[in-house]
Amino acid sequence: MAGMEARPTARLPADAQGCAEAVRLLRAGGLVAFPTETVFGLGADGRNPGAVAALYAAKWRPRFNPLIAHIGSFAEAHREGSFDAAADALAQRFWPGPLTLVVPLAPTATVCDLARAGLASVALRMPSHRFARDLLDAAGFPIVAPSANRSGRVSPTAAAHVLADLDGRIDAVVEGSTTEIGLESTIVACLDGRARLLRPGGVPREDIEAVLGHGLGAEQGDPTRPMAPGALASHYAPRARVRLDAHLIRPGEAALLFGPDPVAGAETAGAVVNLSPTGSTREAAANLFASLRRLDATGAATIAVAPIPNEGLGEAINDRLGRAAAGR
Ligand code: TXA
Ligand code: MG
Repeated sequence: MAGMEARPTARLPADAQGCAEAVRLLRAGGLVAFPTETVFGLGADGRNPGAVAALYAAKWRPRFNPLIAHIGSFAEAHREGSFDAAADALAQRFWPGPLTLVVPLAPTATVCDLARAGLASVALRMPSHRFARDLLDAAGFPIVAPSANRSGRVSPTAAAHVLADLDGRIDAVVEGSTTEIGLESTIVACLDGRARLLRPGGVPREDIEAVLGHGLGAEQGDPTRPMAPGALASHYAPRARVRLDAHLIRPGEAALLFGPDPVAGAETAGAVVNLSPTGSTREAAANLFASLRRLDATGAATIAVAPIPNEGLGEAINDRLGRAAAGR
C-alpha cells in the first residue's frame, strides 16, 4: 500500500458496509478519505509509520507538518494526550465537534512519531459526523487525517473534490455524505497552562473564550514560522489570483459576494457566487470552499472577494481567504 504507483481508488458507501471496508483498508495500512462535519479527511492508521509516510506522499504534504489524530472516545483521548483543566473544560463542552486540542503527549500514546512530526505534543479531535464516529468506534485506534486535498490547495467538502485532487493516489473515498460546517476545526493549544488559538475554525473564538472565562491568546510573531506548522501563509490556493476586500468588481473578474447589499460592477463580472445572500457567516462557511472551486473552474484570472464581517465563523473564513490571497 505504501508505494506511490497509481492505484484504483474505490468508492465506498457511507453506511455500515462502507465503514467495515474502510476499517479493513486502514488496518492494512491503506489511505481512506472520509467525511467529517468540517471537511473530508484523508485517513490512515495513526500507529503505523508506513501508512503515515504514504499519507504524506499521497497529498504532497511536507513531513514537518504534523497531523490531527481523530479519536472516538474520551478514554482514547486520555490514552493519547495529557489534559490540563482548560483542555478538559473545552473537550467536555465541544467534543464531539469541530475543535482540535494540542496537548502534551501521554506516556501511553499510540500515535507514531512521524504523524506528530516528532513533536512532544499531539493534536486530538473527536468528530461529531455520524460516519466518522462509526469509523472511529469500529477502528478503536487513532485515525490521523489531514484535509483530503493536495497540500496547499482548497480543502474538500465533497467526495468529488477529493477525487479531483487525489483519484488514483489513495485506496478509497467514502461517497454520499456532506460536511455540515465546511471549514476545518478550530485548533487550541493547551500546553503551558495558557490556552492559545493556533487556527480559527468551526468553533468561533467567542464560544471558546466563554468556556475559558478569559480571552484566548493568539499565536503571534513570524507568520512563516507559525506554531501550527501547517498554518503557513500560502494555503487554500486556487489557480486564480484572489483579491480581497473588493468594493468594486472589475469586468471579467469572478465575484465572491456576501450578504444582501449589491456590489458595484457585479453585472460585468465573469461569474458571481454569493456565499450567503442573507449575510450568515455559518452559511458562508459551509459554501466557501466549493464556491472557490467553482469560480476557479470558470478560468477567470482573478476572484474578487467582497468584505466579510470578522464575527462568529467570519474569523475563520477571513483566515482561509487571506491564505488563498497570499498565493504561491
Ligand atoms: O477539521 C479538521 O481539522 C480537518 C478534519 C479532517 O478533521 N483536518 C485538518 O487537518 O484540517 P490539516 O492537516 O489540514 O490541519 C492540521 C493542522 C496543521 O496546521 C498542523 O500543523 C496542526 O494541525 N497541528 C497538528 N499537530 C500539531 C501539534 N502537535 N502542534 C501544533 N500544531 C499541530
Ligand atoms: Mg489542510
